[in-house]
Amino acid sequence: MVLDQSRARHVAIIMDGNGRWAKKRALPRAVGHQRGVEAVRRLVRALEGTGLECLTLYAFSSENWKRPDEEVDDLMNLMRKFIKSDLPEFIANDVKLKIIGDWQSLAPDIVAMLEDALAQTANGKQTLAVALNYGGQHEIARAAAKAAAGGGEVSIDTIAAHLDTADLPPLDLLIRTSGEIRLSNFLLWQAAYAEMLFVDTLWPDFEPAHLLQALDDFARRERRYGGR
Ligand code: FPP
Repeated sequence: MVLDQSRARHVAIIMDGNGRWAKKRALPRAVGHQRGVEAVRRLVRALEGTGLECLTLYAFSSENWKRPDEEVDDLMNLMRKFIKSDLPEFIANDVKLKIIGDWQSLAPDIVAMLEDALAQTANGKQTLAVALNYGGQHEIARAAAKAAAGGGEVSIDTIAAHLDTADLPPLDLLIRTSGEIRLSNFLLWQAAYAEMLFVDTLWPDFEPAHLLQALDDFARRERRYGGR
């Protein structure tokens, strides 16, 4: 089989701008996050049509704990509601859930819900990877420690084999919404050769059509991986 190099297999998104979306409308930040979840739902429903093997979303960073307790609670409750309401759809649509980050240290009821959702979607065809309590530097440090604990060589390959994303295809394209141009500790290792796309759209306004356009743009880019 000849692999079509122009087709993206794995896209990741830094979903930014929920707060600004709400502020522009004089609404509470929580409403911005709710609308952010709706944007996630639209995208997951459109996943099949993208042909992607994996979509990775940055839902909660290890730095997001610094936000006010009320906002952290809102985000955790949205996560609970989202898993509960959308799990049957994931199963029906062959979506395989994966979680990256230190998610095992979240609230026990969330961990239990996620474990159940992982088990119930294990046979899905397209992966939705959700980054929860995730930090890229921490992921690399954990992977390096595991590689060292194995007693063998600590190398690019052995670190990569212990990353949370080890079983996912290489990252092709990283998108950030809301006009900010930084990685915010997301997929630092995996982004080494990924294409980047920064769009002004605020996350709650992000539509499947934006992703399809991004995939179309990606297909036209020439990737050289340091060669020429
Ligand atoms: C950035 O907006 C967004 C987040 C910190 C959280 C992203 C979470 C969601 C979209 C909802 C939860 C996701 C799932 C999968 C249930 P911001 O608050 O930093 O916006 P701002 O920069 O405009 O203030």
